[in-house]
Amino acid sequence: MTRKNTLGLAIHGGTGSFLMKDIPSYINSIYKDFFRNIIDVNYDLLIKGEYSLNIVEKVIIEMENSSLFNAGKGSLQNKDKLVSLDASIMDGKRHLYGSIFGVNNIKNPISVAKKILIENEGCYSAEYISKQLLGEFDFVSKKYFSSDKLWLKLLDSNNYLSNKNGTVGCVVLDQKGNLASGTSTGGLVNKLSGRISDSAIIGSGTYANNRTCAISCSGYGESIIRNNLAFYIHSIISNKKVSADKAVKIAFKTISQNLKYNVGLICIDKFGKVIIHQNANSMLYAYKSKHFNFNIFE
Ligand code: GLY
Repeated sequence: MTRKNTLGLAIHGGTGSFLMKDIPSYINSIYKDFFRNIIDVNYDLLIKGEYSLNIVEKVIIEMENSSLFNAGKGSLQNKDKLVSLDASIMDGKRHLYGSIFGVNNIKNPISVAKKILIENEGCYSAEYISKQLLGEFDFVSKKYFSSDKLWLKLLDSNNYLSNKNGTVGCVVLDQKGNLASGTSTGGLVNKLSGRISDSAIIGSGTYANNRTCAISCSGYGESIIRNNLAFYIHSIISNKKVSADKAVKIAFKTISQNLKYNVGLICIDKFGKVIIHQNANSMLYAYKSKHFNFNIFE
């Protein structure tokens, strides 16, 4: 049974192979200020009773609109020098999801994923936007994505970006005990045209279930998909009756041979406890929870 009267949210801005301690303090501050602000604003909304799914969408829109991450505006290009965005969202109360992938002309893929969830109660779609939603969302040109990639400039100028991640994600527990999760990405740099990332796949990069937890992953999508990572953790909690903390550790230990590349995740359990786990050198994250306070990446 879900425990009520607790709440929390966690966000991530991807994993990386650079060491945070090597990053100049002014870069650190840009990210930290951004994360603090998002956490503060959205935690207040949670206190006021906002629904978890709405917070997930709102947080990810803000991250997609920033050029600090490899999602939305800051998305990296594929082999054909085009962006190709993936996003998914899941409602842990109703077990509904929406997923959109391979789009290159939409400002906020996460909102389309949420619309798909609401209208279809679970659907993967590549063409939903052009066929059904013209006029309902903000469309953007190629130029929108190629301008002002602040995060690339910052990191490249300091030679820290040997592994270009920067997927974004959010997990939320609201006051009524409802969990939700969402993830959005531009995918791996120079990826094959048409590649679909874990961020679009429910159970891999995104999963939420009120009985257990909500998870959003980042890192090398093929490793996450191969292990169906988010659902795997849910099923360990569910079947072995262990804490989310323990389940995340078990999952990473079990699949460690498959995890050749960077993988990270944020998880919030039904009690509002946040778990951050990765096999990368760094992960950008922040969280705040009623019983587990505020934390930001170091
Ligand atoms: N996790 C994002 C990607 O593999 O594209």
